[in-house]
Amino acid sequence: MANIIKPITHFTKFESHELGIQLIAQALLYKQNPFVDKLKGTGKRIGCIFLNPSLRTRVSTQLAALNLGMEPIILNMDKEGWALEMNDGAVMNRDKVEHIKDAAAVLGSYFDILAIRAFPSLTNREEDLADFVFNQFVTYCGKPVISLESAIRHPLQSLADQITMKENSTKAKPKVVMTWAPHIKAIPHAVANSFAEWTLGMDHDLTITHPEGYELDEQFTKGAKLEYDQNKALENADFVYVKNWSSFNDYGKILQVDSNWMLTEEHLIAAPNAKIMHCLPVRRNVELSDEMLDSSRSLVQEQAKNRVFAAQSVISHLLDS
Ligand code: CP
Repeated sequence: MANIIKPITHFTKFESHELGIQLIAQALLYKQNPFVDKLKGTGKRIGCIFLNPSLRTRVSTQLAALNLGMEPIILNMDKEGWALEMNDGAVMNRDKVEHIKDAAAVLGSYFDILAIRAFPSLTNREEDLADFVFNQFVTYCGKPVISLESAIRHPLQSLADQITMKENSTKAKPKVVMTWAPHIKAIPHAVANSFAEWTLGMDHDLTITHPEGYELDEQFTKGAKLEYDQNKALENADFVYVKNWSSFNDYGKILQVDSNWMLTEEHLIAAPNAKIMHCLPVRRNVELSDEMLDSSRSLVQEQAKNRVFAAQSVISHLLDS
């Protein structure tokens, strides 16, 4: 049968089950032979624009581009760029030096693909939900854009997570549990939203467990089971995805909850075969115990490694498109 996957111009979210299957398969091929397409990106450049810190996303995207023969250039916009005005029609007589219209258009003229990281404010729910800052870049750059984590999604992380589950699953439809974990800071919803969106989109059986008050935006979790009892949720889990997020309803706030939500071996008595996942960075002994992270259950290093091949698969797809 002919390949009927619709080409995408941007990689910002889960698009379709078929594309997910294709990207995962391509990523696994690149993992076996990272340089098989080493000439594909010759003469092309990707600009990776960071408005926020990063370790994995920055380095894995660079490596992915280099594996395809493409030149990556990193701009730490938060530290090295001009302060950007995001609002149309603004009178720029205060601290903002350059308008996004001008900066994004210039960057678009320099690169074949742009990749952008823009976290949410966690203070303006409507603006964050509209992915305002990220979408201003998309609107004005005029080039294909890859999300390196936006206000509401982190698709490259989620693709790497799906690759990792594919490699470590013995079942067609594993039981996946995403469990909320404690944290000392207000953390965005992007990783949790995206993980739910991709896990449901790839037809896995997803249960989400968190304290009351930490319900996620339903546009990302529709189809998942919600179970407030963490131990019950974890029963017979194949994969346990550990993640903190701040409240969505009481937007960006940290709510007082029982400290027992940090996952330990004790929580997994009824899930003897469960593998543990986390996107990293992780606060040890706050989100997850040392015992868990250093055990043979942990897939966190594999997830991080798969970030390279997830990015390589996506860049390769965009070069084809
Ligand atoms: N998981 C992830 O995106 O890591 P970084 O924030 O270090 O890029």
